[in-house]
Amino acid sequence: MDRNLALELVRVTEAAALSCSRLMGRGDKNAADEAAVAAMRRAFEALQINGTVVIGEGERDEAPMLYIGEKVGGDSDGPELDIAVDPLEGTNLCAYGKPNALAVVAVAPRGNLLHAPDTYMRKIACGPAGKGVVHLDKSPQENLAALAKAKGVYVEDLTAIILERERHQGLIQSVRDVGARVRLISDGDVSAAIATCEPRSGIDIMFGIGGAPEGVLAAAALRCFGGEFQGRLNFRNDGERERALKMGIEDVEKTFACDELAKGDVMFAATGVTSGDMLDGVRYVRGGAQTHSVVMRSQTGTVRFIEAQHHFDRKPKYAFE
Ligand code: FBP
Repeated sequence: MDRNLALELVRVTEAAALSCSRLMGRGDKNAADEAAVAAMRRAFEALQINGTVVIGEGERDEAPMLYIGEKVGGDSDGPELDIAVDPLEGTNLCAYGKPNALAVVAVAPRGNLLHAPDTYMRKIACGPAGKGVVHLDKSPQENLAALAKAKGVYVEDLTAIILERERHQGLIQSVRDVGARVRLISDGDVSAAIATCEPRSGIDIMFGIGGAPEGVLAAAALRCFGGEFQGRLNFRNDGERERALKMGIEDVEKTFACDELAKGDVMFAATGVTSGDMLDGVRYVRGGAQTHSVVMRSQTGTVRFIEAQHHFDRKPKYAFE
């Protein structure tokens, strides 16, 4: 893949973030999501790629844009790529003005991103210090002890980030029982997984069950960071299991490693919608807006932060009509 594509991807996430951030705090998560999807879909047209959405807004009959299987990109003779998108990761975070809402994209050469069904996934994530050290099949206590040893700190110094859900009550208690610190979040486990690789976040490990599509996006990001991520599909019913089989996943009970969820030369980009652990959100300034994005590639591990100033007089599509 042309390495410059990574930089082009930022335009796609910037467009989504700029469009939905105007709806921050308005209490309407669907409107915010629709704005992000439409802007991202448009922005893809400018990329010289032949992309196929493998992680998107849902099936063709339930999502008008960026549905699974949709072709994106402006060049049918361009490189054939798998595209994973979450135009607004954390719809509620944006709708209620909470931190860590992101616009997110990952790409890889065709056939390299797991076609994860819209079900849950049990996940574990941590930064490079925990690579090969933690495992999804181990207990939270065992993983915290192993990570503390690898980091040369006490278990009590570690902070675990966990989605605040009824299903996680036992997990939260077991982390508290060994004395580790806990940060509970209302939404946004892509951002939570990424936070484990960002020392300034103070987050060491993420545990819990969240969306499977979000798991593939997080794995793409953590491959670039050299962090650890593992995921196992978590079905609520037989219908979901059937669907996973139909989508081509042969072993639906498998624990997927990071490089099985997102293989090959992966690129990842995200733009902050609301400010969070790694990225600032969209800020409106005189005559325009500022965005803050990150873009990375697994091949080199280069992580770039991009701060952009957008001028609405020269980019009228982002100005109010
Ligand atoms: P949306 O952006 O689709 O609202 O998802 C937010 C999110 O918190 C994800 O980050 C997470 O993987 C998933 O929802 C968890 O699902 P649930 O809210 O059903 O527990």
